[in-house]
Amino acid sequence: MGEPLPTDLPAVSLADYAERARTVLPPDVWDYVDGGSAAEVTVAANRGALDRVAVLPRVLRGVDTVDLGTRLLGRPYAMPVGVAPMAYQRLVHPDGEVGLASAAGTAGIPYLASTLGSTPVEEVTAVGAEVWFQLYWLRDRALVGDLLARVVAAGCRALVVTVDVPVLGRRPRDLRNAFRLPDDVVAANLPDGRDALAHSGAPGVSAIAAHTAASFAPALRWADLAWLRERVDLPLVVKGVLDPRDAVEAVRIGADAVVVSNHGGRQLDGAPASVTMLPEVVDAVGDRCQVLLDSGIRGGTDVLRALALGAAGVLLGRPLLWALAAGGERGARDALALLAVELTDALTLAGCADPAAAAELRTLGP
Ligand code: FNR
Ligand code: LAC
Repeated sequence: MGEPLPTDLPAVSLADYAERARTVLPPDVWDYVDGGSAAEVTVAANRGALDRVAVLPRVLRGVDTVDLGTRLLGRPYAMPVGVAPMAYQRLVHPDGEVGLASAAGTAGIPYLASTLGSTPVEEVTAVGAEVWFQLYWLRDRALVGDLLARVVAAGCRALVVTVDVPVLGRRPRDLRNAFRLPDDVVAANLPDGRDALAHSGAPGVSAIAAHTAASFAPALRWADLAWLRERVDLPLVVKGVLDPRDAVEAVRIGADAVVVSNHGGRQLDGAPASVTMLPEVVDAVGDRCQVLLDSGIRGGTDVLRALALGAAGVLLGRPLLWALAAGGERGARDALALLAVELTDALTLAGCADPAAAAELRTLGP
Protein backbone atom coordinates (compact mmCIF):
# COMPACT_ATOMS: atom_id res chain seq x y z
CA MET A 1 0.00 0.00 0.00
CA GLY A 2 3.05 2.31 0.00
CA GLU A 3 3.81 5.16 2.37
CA PRO A 4 1.16 6.21 4.88
CA LEU A 5 -0.72 9.31 3.84
CA PRO A 6 0.35 12.54 5.54
CA THR A 7 -2.30 13.13 8.20
CA ASP A 8 -2.72 16.81 7.34
CA LEU A 9 -4.45 15.87 4.07
CA PRO A 10 -8.18 15.16 4.31
CA ALA A 11 -9.13 11.51 3.92
CA VAL A 12 -10.96 10.90 0.65
CA SER A 13 -12.05 7.35 1.40
CA LEU A 14 -12.53 5.38 4.61
CA ALA A 15 -9.58 3.21 3.59
CA ASP A 16 -7.30 6.20 4.16
CA TYR A 17 -8.01 5.87 7.88
CA ALA A 18 -6.80 2.27 7.88
CA GLU A 19 -3.31 3.33 6.86
CA ARG A 20 -3.25 6.04 9.50
CA ALA A 21 -4.49 3.68 12.19
CA ARG A 22 -1.88 1.11 11.30
CA THR A 23 0.88 3.64 11.90
CA VAL A 24 -0.40 4.76 15.31
CA LEU A 25 -1.72 1.55 16.89
CA PRO A 26 0.41 -1.02 18.71
CA PRO A 27 0.65 -4.02 16.34
CA ASP A 28 -1.33 -6.33 18.63
CA VAL A 29 -4.20 -3.84 18.86
CA TRP A 30 -4.18 -3.37 15.08
CA ASP A 31 -4.37 -7.15 14.72
CA TYR A 32 -7.25 -7.44 17.20
CA VAL A 33 -9.25 -4.87 15.23
CA ASP A 34 -8.29 -5.97 11.74
CA GLY A 35 -8.22 -9.72 12.23
CA GLY A 36 -10.78 -12.44 11.84
CA SER A 37 -11.12 -16.07 12.78
CA ALA A 38 -9.18 -19.05 11.41
CA ALA A 39 -7.95 -18.47 7.84
CA GLU A 40 -9.92 -15.19 7.57
CA VAL A 41 -11.80 -16.59 4.57
CA THR A 42 -15.03 -14.95 5.68
CA VAL A 43 -13.31 -11.59 6.19
CA ALA A 44 -12.25 -11.71 2.54
CA ALA A 45 -15.63 -13.07 1.40
CA ASN A 46 -17.42 -10.04 2.86
CA ARG A 47 -15.44 -7.69 0.68
CA GLY A 48 -15.49 -9.89 -2.40
CA ALA A 49 -19.25 -10.39 -2.28
CA LEU A 50 -19.98 -6.69 -1.87
CA ASP A 51 -17.77 -5.95 -4.86
CA ARG A 52 -19.78 -8.43 -6.92
CA VAL A 53 -23.08 -6.64 -6.27
CA ALA A 54 -23.67 -4.45 -9.31
CA VAL A 55 -26.34 -1.79 -8.95
CA LEU A 56 -28.22 -0.59 -12.04
CA PRO A 57 -28.49 3.18 -11.90
CA ARG A 58 -31.65 4.93 -13.12
CA VAL A 59 -31.40 8.07 -15.24
CA LEU A 60 -33.48 11.19 -15.86
CA ARG A 61 -35.29 10.85 -12.56
CA GLY A 62 -35.26 14.58 -11.86
CA VAL A 63 -33.21 14.20 -8.68
CA ASP A 64 -31.85 17.54 -7.56
CA THR A 65 -31.10 17.18 -3.86
CA VAL A 66 -30.76 13.95 -1.95
CA ASP A 67 -32.22 13.57 1.54
CA LEU A 68 -30.37 10.85 3.46
CA GLY A 69 -32.92 10.84 6.28
CA THR A 70 -34.44 7.51 7.24
CA ARG A 71 -36.33 5.73 9.99
CA LEU A 72 -34.83 2.87 11.93
CA LEU A 73 -36.83 1.15 14.68
CA GLY A 74 -39.45 3.87 14.21
CA ARG A 75 -37.08 6.75 14.96
CA PRO A 76 -35.73 9.35 12.54
CA TYR A 77 -32.00 9.31 11.75
CA ALA A 78 -29.88 11.42 9.44
CA MET A 79 -28.71 8.48 7.35
CA PRO A 80 -29.30 4.73 7.17
CA VAL A 81 -26.14 3.90 9.07
CA GLY A 82 -25.35 2.99 12.66
CA VAL A 83 -22.08 2.56 14.51
CA ALA A 84 -21.58 -1.20 14.97
CA PRO A 85 -21.11 -2.28 18.58
CA MET A 86 -17.40 -2.74 19.20
CA ALA A 87 -15.71 -3.72 22.43
CA TYR A 88 -13.01 -1.77 24.30
CA GLN A 89 -12.80 1.40 22.21
CA ARG A 90 -10.32 3.00 24.59
CA LEU A 91 -7.82 0.47 23.23
CA VAL A 92 -7.48 2.56 20.07
CA HIS A 93 -7.73 6.11 21.47
CA PRO A 94 -8.34 7.76 24.86
CA ASP A 95 -11.53 9.36 23.45
CA GLY A 96 -12.89 5.81 23.25
CA GLU A 97 -16.64 5.26 23.46
CA VAL A 98 -17.34 8.88 24.41
CA GLY A 99 -15.54 10.10 21.29
CA LEU A 100 -17.22 7.69 18.90
CA ALA A 101 -20.67 8.17 20.44
CA SER A 102 -20.25 11.96 20.22
CA ALA A 103 -19.33 11.62 16.56
CA ALA A 104 -22.45 9.51 15.99
CA GLY A 105 -24.51 12.17 17.76
CA THR A 106 -23.09 14.87 15.51
CA ALA A 107 -23.85 12.73 12.46
CA GLY A 108 -27.41 12.07 13.69
CA ILE A 109 -27.06 8.29 13.66
CA PRO A 110 -27.39 5.62 16.35
CA TYR A 111 -24.40 4.49 18.38
CA LEU A 112 -24.50 0.84 19.47
CA ALA A 113 -22.83 0.55 22.87
CA SER A 114 -21.20 -2.83 23.52
CA THR A 115 -21.61 -4.76 26.76
CA LEU A 116 -17.81 -4.88 26.58
CA GLY A 117 -17.43 -1.11 26.43
CA SER A 118 -14.44 0.42 28.18
CA THR A 119 -16.67 3.31 29.34
CA PRO A 120 -19.81 2.78 31.48
CA VAL A 121 -23.00 2.98 29.40
CA GLU A 122 -24.25 5.88 31.55
CA GLU A 123 -21.26 7.99 30.43
CA VAL A 124 -21.96 7.06 26.83
CA THR A 125 -25.63 8.07 26.90
CA ALA A 126 -24.61 11.31 28.66
CA VAL A 127 -23.03 12.59 25.43
CA GLY A 128 -26.56 12.99 24.05
CA ALA A 129 -26.36 10.61 21.09
CA GLU A 130 -29.09 8.03 20.41
CA VAL A 131 -27.65 4.92 22.04
CA TRP A 132 -28.76 1.36 21.36
CA PHE A 133 -27.35 -1.09 23.91
CA GLN A 134 -25.76 -4.31 22.63
CA LEU A 135 -26.19 -7.17 25.05
CA TYR A 136 -23.87 -10.10 25.44
CA TRP A 137 -25.79 -12.57 27.55
CA LEU A 138 -23.68 -13.33 30.63
CA ARG A 139 -23.67 -16.63 32.48
CA ASP A 140 -24.75 -14.73 35.59
CA ARG A 141 -28.41 -13.96 34.88
CA ALA A 142 -28.58 -11.57 37.83
CA LEU A 143 -25.85 -9.51 36.14
CA VAL A 144 -27.89 -9.46 32.93
CA GLY A 145 -30.86 -8.18 34.93
CA ASP A 146 -28.73 -5.43 36.53
CA LEU A 147 -27.35 -4.43 33.17
CA LEU A 148 -30.82 -4.22 31.61
CA ALA A 149 -32.07 -2.02 34.44
CA ARG A 150 -29.08 0.31 33.94
CA VAL A 151 -29.60 0.41 30.18
CA VAL A 152 -33.25 1.40 30.55
CA ALA A 153 -32.44 3.99 33.24
CA ALA A 154 -29.67 5.45 31.08
CA GLY A 155 -32.16 6.12 28.28
CA CYS A 156 -30.96 3.67 25.64
CA ARG A 157 -33.34 3.54 22.70
CA ALA A 158 -33.08 -0.13 21.77
CA LEU A 159 -31.69 -3.44 22.90
CA VAL A 160 -29.49 -5.35 20.45
CA VAL A 161 -28.78 -8.95 21.40
CA THR A 162 -25.74 -10.40 19.66
CA VAL A 163 -26.32 -14.09 19.06
CA ASP A 164 -23.27 -15.21 17.10
CA VAL A 165 -20.81 -15.38 20.01
CA PRO A 166 -21.48 -18.55 22.04
CA VAL A 167 -17.70 -18.42 22.30
CA LEU A 168 -15.27 -16.07 20.63
CA GLY A 169 -14.01 -17.31 17.25
CA ARG A 170 -10.42 -18.63 17.24
CA ARG A 171 -8.39 -15.72 15.97
CA PRO A 172 -4.85 -16.76 15.10
CA ARG A 173 -3.43 -13.25 15.23
CA ASP A 174 -4.64 -12.75 18.81
CA LEU A 175 -3.40 -16.21 19.80
CA ARG A 176 0.06 -15.53 18.35
CA ASN A 177 0.18 -12.11 19.99
CA ALA A 178 -1.09 -13.52 23.31
CA PHE A 179 -3.41 -10.54 23.13
CA ARG A 180 -4.62 -9.11 26.43
CA LEU A 181 -6.09 -5.81 27.58
CA PRO A 182 -3.70 -3.20 28.95
CA ASP A 183 -4.32 -2.38 32.62
CA ASP A 184 -6.03 0.94 31.89
CA VAL A 185 -8.65 -0.52 29.54
CA VAL A 186 -11.39 -2.28 31.46
CA ALA A 187 -14.78 -3.88 30.87
CA ALA A 188 -16.47 -0.88 32.42
CA ASN A 189 -20.04 -2.22 32.32
CA LEU A 190 -19.15 -5.26 34.42
CA PRO A 191 -18.67 -5.13 38.19
CA ASP A 192 -15.10 -4.38 39.32
CA GLY A 193 -12.71 -7.23 38.78
CA ARG A 194 -15.05 -9.23 36.53
CA ASP A 195 -12.61 -8.64 33.65
CA ALA A 196 -9.48 -9.98 35.36
CA LEU A 197 -9.08 -12.77 32.79
CA ALA A 198 -9.05 -10.25 29.94
CA HIS A 199 -5.88 -8.75 31.44
CA SER A 200 -3.96 -11.91 32.15
CA GLY A 201 -1.61 -12.99 29.41
CA ALA A 202 -0.31 -16.47 28.63
CA PRO A 203 1.56 -17.66 25.53
CA GLY A 204 -0.77 -18.89 22.80
CA VAL A 205 -3.85 -17.57 24.58
CA SER A 206 -6.14 -14.67 23.70
CA ALA A 207 -7.09 -13.18 27.05
CA ILE A 208 -10.20 -11.66 25.49
CA ALA A 209 -11.31 -15.09 24.30
CA ALA A 210 -10.60 -16.58 27.72
CA HIS A 211 -12.59 -13.82 29.38
CA THR A 212 -15.60 -14.21 27.10
CA ALA A 213 -15.52 -18.01 27.49
CA ALA A 214 -15.74 -17.56 31.25
CA SER A 215 -18.37 -14.80 31.17
CA PHE A 216 -20.77 -15.40 28.27
CA ALA A 217 -23.65 -17.86 28.39
CA PRO A 218 -22.95 -20.23 25.48
CA ALA A 219 -26.18 -22.22 25.43
CA LEU A 220 -28.81 -19.58 24.74
CA ARG A 221 -32.06 -20.48 23.02
CA TRP A 222 -34.83 -18.55 21.33
CA ALA A 223 -36.86 -19.05 24.52
CA ASP A 224 -34.32 -16.85 26.34
CA LEU A 225 -34.89 -14.07 23.83
CA ALA A 226 -38.63 -14.49 24.20
CA TRP A 227 -38.11 -14.11 27.99
CA LEU A 228 -36.20 -10.90 27.30
CA ARG A 229 -38.86 -9.65 24.91
CA GLU A 230 -41.43 -10.01 27.69
CA ARG A 231 -39.37 -8.06 30.20
CA VAL A 232 -37.84 -5.20 28.27
CA ASP A 233 -40.01 -2.51 26.81
CA LEU A 234 -37.51 -1.36 24.17
CA PRO A 235 -37.27 -2.22 20.47
CA LEU A 236 -35.42 -5.52 20.21
CA VAL A 237 -32.79 -6.23 17.57
CA VAL A 238 -31.19 -9.64 16.97
CA LYS A 239 -27.65 -9.26 15.63
CA GLY A 240 -25.71 -12.04 13.97
CA VAL A 241 -28.26 -13.86 11.84
CA LEU A 242 -27.33 -15.41 8.48
CA ASP A 243 -29.83 -18.26 7.95
CA PRO A 244 -33.29 -17.00 6.88
CA ARG A 245 -34.83 -19.63 9.18
CA ASP A 246 -33.22 -17.86 12.14
CA ALA A 247 -34.53 -14.53 10.89
CA VAL A 248 -38.03 -16.04 10.89
CA GLU A 249 -37.48 -17.21 14.49
CA ALA A 250 -36.47 -13.67 15.39
CA VAL A 251 -39.72 -12.36 13.94
CA ARG A 252 -41.62 -15.03 15.85
CA ILE A 253 -40.24 -13.95 19.23
CA GLY A 254 -41.14 -10.35 18.39
CA ALA A 255 -37.87 -8.81 17.21
CA ASP A 256 -38.18 -5.39 15.61
CA ALA A 257 -35.08 -5.84 13.46
CA VAL A 258 -32.38 -8.35 12.61
CA VAL A 259 -28.79 -7.60 11.70
CA VAL A 260 -27.55 -9.90 8.96
CA SER A 261 -23.97 -10.23 10.10
CA ASN A 262 -21.06 -12.64 10.37
CA HIS A 263 -19.42 -10.37 12.94
CA GLY A 264 -17.03 -9.01 10.34
CA GLY A 265 -15.58 -12.49 9.77
CA ARG A 266 -14.55 -12.81 13.42
CA GLN A 267 -16.75 -15.78 14.35
CA LEU A 268 -17.42 -18.84 12.13
CA ASP A 269 -14.81 -18.79 9.39
CA GLY A 270 -16.29 -20.27 6.22
CA ALA A 271 -19.66 -18.66 6.90
CA PRO A 272 -20.94 -16.81 3.83
CA ALA A 273 -20.55 -13.11 3.30
CA SER A 274 -23.38 -11.30 5.06
CA VAL A 275 -24.47 -9.60 1.84
CA THR A 276 -24.81 -12.98 0.15
CA MET A 277 -27.55 -13.91 2.62
CA LEU A 278 -29.26 -10.50 2.69
CA PRO A 279 -31.79 -11.05 -0.14
CA GLU A 280 -33.00 -14.38 1.29
CA VAL A 281 -33.39 -12.88 4.75
CA VAL A 282 -35.29 -9.89 3.36
CA ASP A 283 -37.61 -12.26 1.50
CA ALA A 284 -38.13 -14.44 4.56
CA VAL A 285 -39.12 -11.64 6.95
CA GLY A 286 -40.99 -9.42 4.48
CA ASP A 287 -42.31 -6.33 6.19
CA ARG A 288 -42.54 -7.99 9.59
CA CYS A 289 -39.23 -6.53 10.79
CA GLN A 290 -36.43 -4.32 9.52
CA VAL A 291 -33.26 -5.86 8.18
CA LEU A 292 -29.87 -4.27 8.76
CA LEU A 293 -26.57 -5.45 7.29
CA ASP A 294 -23.00 -5.34 8.49
CA SER A 295 -19.62 -6.89 7.67
CA GLY A 296 -17.34 -5.32 5.09
CA ILE A 297 -19.14 -2.00 4.53
CA ARG A 298 -16.40 0.41 3.51
CA GLY A 299 -18.12 3.34 1.79
CA GLY A 300 -21.19 4.97 0.31
CA THR A 301 -21.46 2.56 -2.62
CA ASP A 302 -21.61 -0.36 -0.19
CA VAL A 303 -24.49 1.31 1.65
CA LEU A 304 -26.26 1.76 -1.69
CA ARG A 305 -25.72 -1.94 -2.48
CA ALA A 306 -27.28 -2.93 0.85
CA LEU A 307 -30.27 -0.62 0.35
CA ALA A 308 -30.81 -1.91 -3.19
CA LEU A 309 -30.87 -5.47 -1.83
CA GLY A 310 -33.57 -4.54 0.67
CA ALA A 311 -31.73 -3.55 3.83
CA ALA A 312 -33.18 -0.69 5.88
CA GLY A 313 -29.65 0.36 6.78
CA VAL A 314 -26.16 -0.81 7.64
CA LEU A 315 -23.79 -0.88 10.59
CA LEU A 316 -20.24 0.28 10.11
CA GLY A 317 -17.50 -1.40 12.12
CA ARG A 318 -13.74 -1.31 11.66
CA PRO A 319 -13.54 1.91 9.58
CA LEU A 320 -14.79 3.87 12.58
CA LEU A 321 -12.16 2.36 14.87
CA TRP A 322 -9.52 3.31 12.28
CA ALA A 323 -10.82 6.88 12.23
CA LEU A 324 -11.03 6.99 16.04
CA ALA A 325 -7.47 5.67 16.28
CA ALA A 326 -6.22 8.19 13.75
CA GLY A 327 -7.91 11.29 15.10
CA GLY A 328 -10.06 10.61 18.17
CA GLU A 329 -13.58 12.05 18.17
CA ARG A 330 -12.63 14.48 15.41
CA GLY A 331 -11.41 11.66 13.20
CA ALA A 332 -14.63 9.69 13.71
CA ARG A 333 -16.71 12.79 12.99
CA ASP A 334 -14.80 13.41 9.75
CA ALA A 335 -15.20 9.76 8.71
CA LEU A 336 -18.98 9.88 9.19
CA ALA A 337 -19.20 13.18 7.30
CA LEU A 338 -17.20 11.59 4.49
CA LEU A 339 -19.56 8.59 4.43
CA ALA A 340 -22.54 10.96 4.16
CA VAL A 341 -20.90 12.67 1.17
CA GLU A 342 -20.19 9.32 -0.46
CA LEU A 343 -23.74 8.07 0.09
CA THR A 344 -25.23 11.30 -1.27
CA ASP A 345 -23.03 10.91 -4.32
CA ALA A 346 -23.98 7.24 -4.82
CA LEU A 347 -27.73 7.94 -4.50
CA THR A 348 -27.49 10.89 -6.88
CA LEU A 349 -25.65 8.83 -9.48
CA ALA A 350 -28.21 6.03 -9.12
CA GLY A 351 -31.12 8.44 -9.62
CA CYS A 352 -32.48 8.14 -6.07
CA ALA A 353 -33.75 11.10 -4.06
CA ASP A 354 -33.59 9.20 -0.76
CA PRO A 355 -32.66 5.81 0.75
CA ALA A 356 -36.19 4.45 0.24
CA ALA A 357 -35.90 4.99 -3.52
CA ALA A 358 -32.83 2.76 -3.57
CA ALA A 359 -34.99 -0.24 -2.65
CA GLU A 360 -36.48 -0.03 -6.17
CA LEU A 361 -33.11 -0.38 -7.90
CA ARG A 362 -32.23 -3.58 -9.71
CA THR A 363 -29.03 -5.42 -8.86
CA LEU A 364 -26.93 -8.15 -10.43
CA GLY A 365 -25.06 -10.56 -8.17
CA PRO A 366 -23.61 -11.26 -5.62
C1 FNR B 1 -16.63 -6.20 16.94
N1 FNR B 1 -17.94 -6.65 16.83
C2 FNR B 1 -18.72 -6.73 17.98
N2 FNR B 1 -20.05 -7.06 17.88
C3 FNR B 1 -20.83 -7.06 18.98
O1 FNR B 1 -22.01 -7.35 18.86
N3 FNR B 1 -20.29 -6.72 20.20
C4 FNR B 1 -19.00 -6.40 20.37
O2 FNR B 1 -18.56 -6.10 21.47
C5 FNR B 1 -18.16 -6.42 19.23
N4 FNR B 1 -16.84 -6.13 19.34
C6 FNR B 1 -16.08 -5.95 18.21
C7 FNR B 1 -14.78 -5.48 18.33
C8 FNR B 1 -14.04 -5.22 17.20
C9 FNR B 1 -12.61 -4.70 17.35
C10 FNR B 1 -14.58 -5.45 15.91
C11 FNR B 1 -13.82 -5.15 14.66
C12 FNR B 1 -15.87 -5.94 15.80
C13 FNR B 1 -18.56 -6.92 15.51
C14 FNR B 1 -19.16 -5.64 14.92
O3 FNR B 1 -20.29 -5.21 15.64
C15 FNR B 1 -19.60 -5.82 13.46
O4 FNR B 1 -20.45 -6.92 13.35
C16 FNR B 1 -18.43 -5.99 12.50
O5 FNR B 1 -17.32 -5.23 12.91
C17 FNR B 1 -18.87 -5.54 11.12
O6 FNR B 1 -17.88 -5.77 10.19
P1 FNR B 1 -16.86 -4.61 9.68
O7 FNR B 1 -17.64 -3.38 9.31
O8 FNR B 1 -15.89 -4.38 10.79
O9 FNR B 1 -16.23 -5.29 8.51
C1 LAC C 1 -15.06 -9.24 19.18
C2 LAC C 1 -16.04 -9.43 20.29
C3 LAC C 1 -15.68 -8.90 21.58
O1 LAC C 1 -15.48 -9.45 18.03
O2 LAC C 1 -17.33 -9.18 19.91
O3 LAC C 1 -13.87 -8.99 19.44
